[in-house]
Order: sequence, then C-alpha cells, then structure tokens
Amino acid sequence: MKKKILYVADEPKMPGGLRRMFRSMRPEWKVDFCGSASDVLVETAKEAYDVVVAEVNTPGAEGEGVAEHLRRLHPGSARIIVLDHLEWDGIIEPRGPGHFFLFKPFEAEKLKAAISRACSMRTLLGDQALVELISRIDSLPSIPSLYEEVVREARSQEGSLAKVADIISKDVGMSAKLLQVVNSALFGFSGQVSSIVRAVNLLGLENIKALILSLKVFTSSHTKSFPCYSLPTLWEHSISVAMTARSIATQEGFSQAMIDEAFMAGMLHDVGKAVLLDKLPDECRNISEMVKEKGCGLLDAEQARLGTTHARVGAYLMGMWGLSESTVEAIAFHHFPGRSGNEKFGILTVVHLANAMEHGGGKAKKSEGLDAGYMEKLGISEGDG
Ligand SMILES: [Fe+2]
Ligand SMILES: [Fe+2]
Repeated sequence: MKKKILYVADEPKMPGGLRRMFRSMRPEWKVDFCGSASDVLVETAKEAYDVVVAEVNTPGAEGEGVAEHLRRLHPGSARIIVLDHLEWDGIIEPRGPGHFFLFKPFEAEKLKAAISRACSMRTLLGDQALVELISRIDSLPSIPSLYEEVVREARSQEGSLAKVADIISKDVGMSAKLLQVVNSALFGFSGQVSSIVRAVNLLGLENIKALILSLKVFTSSHTKSFPCYSLPTLWEHSISVAMTARSIATQEGFSQAMIDEAFMAGMLHDVGKAVLLDKLPDECRNISEMVKEKGCGLLDAEQARLGTTHARVGAYLMGMWGLSESTVEAIAFHHFPGRSGNEKFGILTVVHLANAMEHGGGKAKKSEGLDAGYMEKLGISEGDG
C-alpha cells in the first residue's frame, strides 16, 4: 500500500530537485501539498497521513505551533519539521514522540531518507502505550556524535578506512572500549588487536559502526542491575546474537550489506532493555520481581507493567537515530516476527532465529521463544534452526 505524505510549505515553487524526487517516488508515495497552516489543519483532519512534512515558517503558525497542531491532530503520524536558515548538518534529533527535524538547506536525498525513516516509525507511533511511555522519559539517549562523524567521513569522496580509524582514535574513551570488545573472547580473534586501524580492518566499517552505537547505550548506565535487566549479561547476549545473525545471513547467501545489517540489528535488538534500565529503573525492578513471583515471561510482565515491550522501545529509539527500516522492524518484532506482516526471509528472520538460538543454547526451539507459525510460513521447520 502506498504511504501517504503531506508536504506543507509556504514556497510557491518547490525546488526542482525536490520535485524530481517526489515524482520518482510516485509508485511508493501518495504526496499531497498544501501551502498554509490552516490548510494543514483542514488536510490532516480529512485523512490520516503516514508522514507530515512541515516548514516552520508556514504562514498562520510559528515554529512549535505547527508541530503542536500536527501532534494534536495526528498523534499517529510521524512529523518532519523543516527548520530554516541554520547552518547545521541535517541530522535528526530525538525530541518527543514522532518529531523529526530537518534543517535547510538539504538535498532531496536527505528528505527522501528522512521520510523513509519516518514511515518506519509510523507503525510504532500507532502504539499509544509506547508513545505514552516515551513521553514519560524526559530525554532519550542521543545518537553518538562520533557515529555521525564516522558516517560522514565514510560517505565523503576522500573517505578511507584509515581516516575513519583516525577519527575514532581521537575519542580515547570509545577507542579503549572498542579495543576491549574486539579483544574479548566473544569475537575469537587470535592475537592482540592493539590499534583501531587493525580493529576497523578486521571487523569492517559497518560492524564498527554497530559497536559504536551499542557501546553508547550499553555503557551509559552502570548503577542498577536486576535479574531481567543486567547490562553485562545483555552485552554478551547482544554480541552473541549479532555474531549468530551474521553467520546465518552469510550461510543464506545474503549480500554483504545485508550481512552487516544483520550484525547491526543483532547487536541492537535488545537495546530497549538498556534504555528502560537507564530511564525507568523502578519499573525494571518491578518487572523482574513480577517475573520471579508469578513465574511469567518477561514480555508478559513488561506488557502488564508498561503496556509495551523493550522490543518496541528499542525500535523507537533506533528509528529516531535513523537506522534502516528493516533494522527497526527486526528490533520491534524480534520476539514475534509473525506480527510484522512481513513474510520474506530477511533481517527480521535472521535476528529472531539468532535470538531464539542464543536462548535455546544453540538450537532455536518453540519452548525458547521461536515463533513456530512464522517459521512454518517461511518454510522452515523447528529442526532446521
Ligand atoms: Fe528481546
Ligand atoms: Fe535477546
């Protein structure tokens, strides 16, 4: 089904690059344009949009005014607010559910990427309990600036692995953590990896990027630990799932980009647990106690206490950080892939399998969380895992 986009701008004429981009996306998007905030109210009241893109200098409303109008009218739509006259690089900040910010000037490709990300967030934004929970968390962790720098360098024409390694090396704290991880038994490299250049060469840039993101979240809080939410356990589990996901993706003959994505999604699939532990430790203690006392599963306890799960919280944050739609989907549905509606063997499948295998001591079983109905639809029986 086509995604519905509303674009609100006061400019009478849209730049050619944007027009061409919207034209090229016609098979996937239905885009409506309107020119003022009052039109926004009329248009958005008429139909539900997946994504609303609005410029802040839209006549009839100012700045937050547009954002607030849109939020009230369509809490279920993702909203991209375009800000003017700021010399900023156009990254997206987590600031309240469903709000993305894009700074002018930007290229058409940047808006296209932002709309695609926002589309992947839409499903999650339909989860009212998740939106409410996120509203209770005053500040979500922001995307590491080092990650942004690495991405920028890797994309630049003169970018090289050596330059990327140089950038990482300047962050002494992150370099030390990266080397510690790469040298841990979990990765199984023979001999000591003593430089970032070597680590980048051994693991590849994409896997290093995944580790930078994970380290940011998994090492931001150390004080609290509960049986169901323990950072050291979570960290080891995440690396194991990432490695398993990567090897399944390799065996399945996925492209290198998808193998890297499987590693990234495996690494971050339980990132929501780290966020909950950091931001809502009392809830984590209550959930852990509930699991112990009632003998129920963690997901049931999370659902009962929070109305949502760590999977959705993690997917929300990673969507805000701009990770790909398939990574966000894999994180959101890693326990119940059948609920995603996606029946293609892909990143979600691989992460679900890897997670179930890790819980099942190397074998994916229904008793250890394997979604047998989903696997059957894909033509994979329990024994195959
Ligand atoms: Fe999980
Ligand atoms: Fe897990």
